[in-house]
Amino acid sequence: MSFPVDVVVMAAGKGTRMKSQRPKVLHRLGGRALAQHVIDTAGRLSARSVVVITGHGAEQVEAGLHAPTATAGHGATQLKYVRQEPQLGTGHAVQQAVPVLSDDGVTLVLSGDVPLTRADTLQTLLDRCAGECLALLTLDMPDPTGYGRIVRGPDGAVQAIVEQKDASEAQRSIGEIYSGIMAVPTRALRGWLARLDNRNAQGEYYLTDVVKFAVADGLSVRAHRITDAVQVAGVNSPVQLAELERAYQRRLAHALMEQGVRLADPARLDVRGELVCGQDVEIDVNCVFEGRVVLGDGARIGPNCVLANTEIGAGALIQAFTHTQGEAAGVLIGPRAEIGPFARLRPGARLGPEVHIGNFVEVKNSTLAAGAKANHLAYLGDADVGERVNYGAGSITANYDGAYKHRTVIEADVHVGSNCVLVAPVTIGAGGTVGGGSTITRSTEPGVLSVARGKQVSIADWQRPVKKKP
Ligand code: UD1
Ligand code: CA
Repeated sequence: MSFPVDVVVMAAGKGTRMKSQRPKVLHRLGGRALAQHVIDTAGRLSARSVVVITGHGAEQVEAGLHAPTATAGHGATQLKYVRQEPQLGTGHAVQQAVPVLSDDGVTLVLSGDVPLTRADTLQTLLDRCAGECLALLTLDMPDPTGYGRIVRGPDGAVQAIVEQKDASEAQRSIGEIYSGIMAVPTRALRGWLARLDNRNAQGEYYLTDVVKFAVADGLSVRAHRITDAVQVAGVNSPVQLAELERAYQRRLAHALMEQGVRLADPARLDVRGELVCGQDVEIDVNCVFEGRVVLGDGARIGPNCVLANTEIGAGALIQAFTHTQGEAAGVLIGPRAEIGPFARLRPGARLGPEVHIGNFVEVKNSTLAAGAKANHLAYLGDADVGERVNYGAGSITANYDGAYKHRTVIEADVHVGSNCVLVAPVTIGAGGTVGGGSTITRSTEPGVLSVARGKQVSIADWQRPVKKKP
């Protein structure tokens, strides 16, 4: 069974209870806007288009979202926006989208503030719709207060959805609720939306009224009843946002562990992007992963690391409190490298195999070849560091002249002593040694010792000042 799917995402509401300047659907969960989760799920369903209905903060919302990345074997999902101003109810919202929907497809209605619905759940809902039925995603709730209730006939067939405020006492005791998610043949939807009115307790155009039209028209209404409340939970407040964030992280943590990743504590992991792990990866507590992070086979991550847009090679050891900020340029850490504790790797840090970066060392836009070491308190910016170089404690590359950045080249097997300043542009020749405390402003030949500092004098008959007695 195959029919085009167009997804409608309702995102015009105000989100008053967030008490925020930012439109609700742009608040982040797992590093992504709430509505972006919904759009990406639509992408996984190979939807033909996603139509986002905006209203409150429309411009901000439209600027803050993007089309899902195309999945293999399927054309890109098109992202469209329509405006709903003013907001007269969920039925009125979908009415705004109808002009950009085609009658040959099925419309899947989702909400921009319900981020954790699984693609396979929605696929089952679409299968129930089968291109010709009205399919509702429903849930049994211990406390259904506030939700639309699913009213079934004696034969169990769905007859209507009744909103809380319009429900009778008997209807309010129904525990099966409408999740806000439905799949409906677009041609039928178009007709039903034209028949909506707002004669109800809230004076709104209810999308849920399409159920009674379907029943009247003799169209079969099917419910896909699930038990996992997280999948239909909406975000209305910071508390609910934090609860869903945890649920999302738990989901990711379990998927990683299923795949063999050893997490010291799945409750203390935060993935705010995409984390790709090889075999035998170990992650200690309180690590935050941002953007795309790739951990090679056998990589071990110590506690309290923040790793962003970083690729880590097989067998590398990242010790506690290491911070990497790959941003656009990325950070690359070679196989069997040892980083940290307390290391800082900034955009364009590219470290080869077995490189060691120790505590309070900052590396930015620099390449370190295999076996190079900078173990303590150092800065390497805009540098090319050769194999087996040993870069001493307290040494820095002075890469910025106040207007331009310049490169420092440290060739293979160089030893740079402690507390040196390498004033770029400058090259230290292969195998050379730079004496501790030197300020190097001119390039050096291979193999030589370079010392550039005040010559030591020792004065024998010098007296330290002493305080005079009163
Ligand atoms: C709706 C359903 C209810 C269901 C509940 C699940 C209706 C009439 N009722 O309730 O049966 O149990 O969802 O959460 O549909 N929105 C707009 N424009 C509007 C109104 C709403 O875009 O004019 C958006 C909101 O931003 C939100 C979504 O639609 O993302 C749902 O709106 P909300 O007010 O939460 O729905 P309810 O009426 O509470
Ligand atoms: Ca609601």
